[in-house]
Amino acid sequence: MALATNNSSNKAADAPAITIAGLEKRFANGVEALRGVDLTIEPGSFVAILGPSGAGKSTLLRCINGLETPSRGSVAVRGLAVEKGNLRAIRTEVAMVFQSFNLVGRLNVMANILCGRLGKRSTLGSLLYLMRPEDRTIAEHALARVGLTERAWERADRLSGGQQQRVGIARALAQEPVIMLADEPVASLDPATSEEILDLLREIQERDGITMVVSLHQVEYARRYADRVIGLNDGRIVYDGGVAGLTDDVLAAIYHRSGNDDEAGLSDR
Ligand SMILES: Nc1ncnc2c1ncn2[C@@H]1O[C@H](COP(=O)(O)OP(=O)(O)O)[C@@H](O)[C@H]1O
Ligand SMILES: [Mg+2]
Repeated sequence: MALATNNSSNKAADAPAITIAGLEKRFANGVEALRGVDLTIEPGSFVAILGPSGAGKSTLLRCINGLETPSRGSVAVRGLAVEKGNLRAIRTEVAMVFQSFNLVGRLNVMANILCGRLGKRSTLGSLLYLMRPEDRTIAEHALARVGLTERAWERADRLSGGQQQRVGIARALAQEPVIMLADEPVASLDPATSEEILDLLREIQERDGITMVVSLHQVEYARRYADRVIGLNDGRIVYDGGVAGLTDDVLAAIYHRSGNDDEAGLSDR
């Protein structure tokens, strides 16, 4: 469905979903969040990004939809460079789901989901977006997909955390994206709710063929849900492979803390 409604050429459909080459990100304060990342992600896959806090997971995801600008290297989405001038086109193809849901709490659920349609509209169209029956239909479908049809007219901040994340996913679906990026989507949720949310993301990946790139804190969820795991440590990829390869040694490499611990050890001597 997502592909059919897209204006992109066949060439774009044949290209990898995401192509990253030599990506480096150094922030103004000197922190090097990404130190040379090369990565190709095939369409329709479910990729988990694992790594300790500060490894660069969020920065990597933010470079894919143009929220951060690389210091070096390149990112392309279906062959289209993620750079100034293309960001509008990129954001119609790439939707994002957030740890803290990023809903407008005082707006109702339907209005929050309609926000997912804004990127598809011109400025004038955006002002009139509430009146477009087509957008309304798409939003209603998205709401049904996440099982919250009865809550459409409730304020978003009245919903539980799990329900708010469902609204965040419905907003992303309403964008009719080709790729969904989810930055620790279950880090604020209890285990049972986390599984419901990850089940939903996998169902969307399988049924709609949407490429899913999800950063996760828990290895166990990566094992259960991902086709492929990218292990990040200190801005570099230290593992790229299937879940079967997540041995204790590999996990130690992914979660290894460089710098402080070693330095502390040395200075003790
Ligand atoms: N806007 C920013 N300015 C300066 N440093 C940042 C910024 N965003 C992230 N960082 C730093 O970059 C590194 C990677 O951060 P992040 O991508 O958020 O890691 P993760 O999501 O894996 O926890 C961390 O050291 C973090 O403090
Ligand atoms: Mg993060």
